[in-house]
Amino acid sequence: MTRVAVVTGAAGGLGRAFSDRLLADGLTVIGVDIDGAALLIMSADREGLVPEAVDLTDAEAIADLFDRLTHRFGGVDALVNNAGTCFMSDFPDIPAEELTRQMEINFHSAFHCCQQAVKAMAGRPGVRKIVNISSNGAYNFDVFDPPHYRASKAAMDTLTKDLARRYAREKIAVNSIAPAMTETPLFNVLTEDVLARAISAMPHGHAMQPDEIAAWVSFLISPAGDIASGNVIILNQGRDVR
Ligand SMILES: NC(=O)c1ccc[n+]([C@@H]2O[C@H](COP(=O)([O-])OP(=O)(O)OC[C@H]3O[C@@H](n4cnc5c(N)ncnc54)[C@H](O)[C@@H]3O)[C@@H](O)[C@H]2O)c1
Repeated sequence: MTRVAVVTGAAGGLGRAFSDRLLADGLTVIGVDIDGAALLIMSADREGLVPEAVDLTDAEAIADLFDRLTHRFGGVDALVNNAGTCFMSDFPDIPAEELTRQMEINFHSAFHCCQQAVKAMAGRPGVRKIVNISSNGAYNFDVFDPPHYRASKAAMDTLTKDLARRYAREKIAVNSIAPAMTETPLFNVLTEDVLARAISAMPHGHAMQPDEIAAWVSFLISPAGDIASGNVIILNQGRDVR
């Protein structure tokens, strides 16, 4: 039976790399993104990629999505919560709506997807997987990340640990991957100066590439990842080791 993985934010820099890697691993990939046009272009030359244009800040739309997937595929085997963004207003001048939006896009979306995914995973064989894409910004306070972005990712990592414990006996493994600077369109939220400083702080002298992060997602979703749950895996070339 072909395993089914849901990748959120699939049309973005990391989501595209995750989708390609999981397709290469032989999974059917449900690519979910608010950017339906980009998904359609992607799916044109990717056999096995099922495009789903969904605004992940809409909990009802997420419930509908997983209902449709359960009906069509009999459930799902893996979920990668990757959709997200980084709003750059800084403390204390962060508008209330921006805080709300940051939490909705980065955290609520993942929370609602997890709620639906654990139901859609019931009865599927083997160890099912949830991978939450967090950020080094939740742990490294020397870099630029604003506090609402950090908090959205820290919340995600607490959800990772809660669900890992809660679903261990049901064989759903839940982990976070927390990357540092990875070259994607998200770099556009930074000024040239902030970006240059952040990249120069990377020990290898360059940003990481999306396919390097995708290899870790692939590993966690592969049988090798069956025995790991409740971890926050930090990928940063060793930048923050003290
Ligand atoms: N690039 C980095 O350096 C870096 C570092 C740490 C963590 N991350 C995290 O990785 C994840 C992916 O980031 P990226 O760098 O690929 O960014 P990206 O901007 O290239 O991709 C993000 C994707 O999420 C989608 N998205 C945004 N809001 C959505 C919504 N409401 N509903 C559905 N889809 C929505 C966007 O359309 C986009 O395709 C994010 O959660 C980000 O916080 C990135």
